[in-house]
Amino acid sequence: MTSHRDSGELSWRGLEPANWLEVCSCGHGRACDQSLVESRRQYLIAQAGAGLEILVAHHGERPLGFAQTAPVEGVARDVEGEGAVLLHCVNVFSSGRGVGRALVHEVRRRAAKLGRGVVVDACAGVWGFMPEDFFARLGFRVAQAKGQRRLMYIDLPTGAGLPRYFEPRYSPPDLHPDGGPGHPEVIVDVFFTPLCSGLLSEEAAVARRAAASYGDRVLVREWNCGDAGVRGRFGVARAVFVNGVMRPNGDTITLEEAGDLIAMALGRPAPVTAVWDDSISRLF
Ligand SMILES: CC(C)(COP(=O)(O)OP(=O)(O)OC[C@H]1O[C@@H](n2cnc3c(N)ncnc32)[C@H](O)[C@@H]1OP(=O)(O)O)[C@@H](O)C(=O)NCCC(=O)NCCS
Repeated sequence: MTSHRDSGELSWRGLEPANWLEVCSCGHGRACDQSLVESRRQYLIAQAGAGLEILVAHHGERPLGFAQTAPVEGVARDVEGEGAVLLHCVNVFSSGRGVGRALVHEVRRRAAKLGRGVVVDACAGVWGFMPEDFFARLGFRVAQAKGQRRLMYIDLPTGAGLPRYFEPRYSPPDLHPDGGPGHPEVIVDVFFTPLCSGLLSEEAAVARRAAASYGDRVLVREWNCGDAGVRGRFGVARAVFVNGVMRPNGDTITLEEAGDLIAMALGRPAPVTAVWDDSISRLF
């Protein structure tokens, strides 16, 4: 197995035809829904002028992994900070060969040239997603912990404040007590970040399919946290709420689960304040 620990044989590229399928499918290639891949590709290209950067580690023509960054100020996540780029994700297609370390090192080097540090929203024990232990090994420190999420940082310039998670401000929808025409009994609010899926929300599409058989009784609303107004109003980047109750699962929602949540919500009163589940991570 080739090791890339010295990284001398790696080259750095941006998003380009040789790697866009792997990058935009997060390494799943043709197994991924190609409409999502294309949606993400278009979003990433459109956002390049706004500071979003895709850094791809190549061995010759072969992409080995990538990192996605954007200035932390105004990033499409429920995180605030200053003087840093947010490392939204690092994804290595073949682990254990030094590519992850080399990618993070190159991200730090590029950020430093801009006088910036690096912030990452990592996870503690979530199926190897953005693992806290990996970033800790590379020298990142925890600024804030929230459930299984760990907001970490490194190289922040002097005087820059530590990054923080937004305070959530989401409230349950105001439902008409008697339902009836124009008054849904269940509202599903799906929050998504275009950094992952472009402008298509896979989870909203699933929720709409699950809601279809209920007609006007169930309304699915889709919230794009790439919109600063949405982030400011709700303080949420990714979540699914069914009548104000956060779905207690961090994985991508399935049709069966969405159907079950809607059926349960139809039979019970909505809570007065939103019900959160901070024990899970809703990063991806
Ligand atoms: C985590 C990840 C980036 C690591 O990349 P990698 O190329 O396997 O890591 P490296 O080989 O460069 O390892 C660098 C160091 O980190 C350590 N490390 C790697 N993965 C680790 C993990 N999950 N936990 C703790 N330490 C880890 C290695 O042991 C190595 O330490 P050492 O050099 O002191 O021995 C990679 O496994 C990955 O892409 N995982 C998925 C991340 C993800 O969820 N992305 C978003 C998807 S939407």
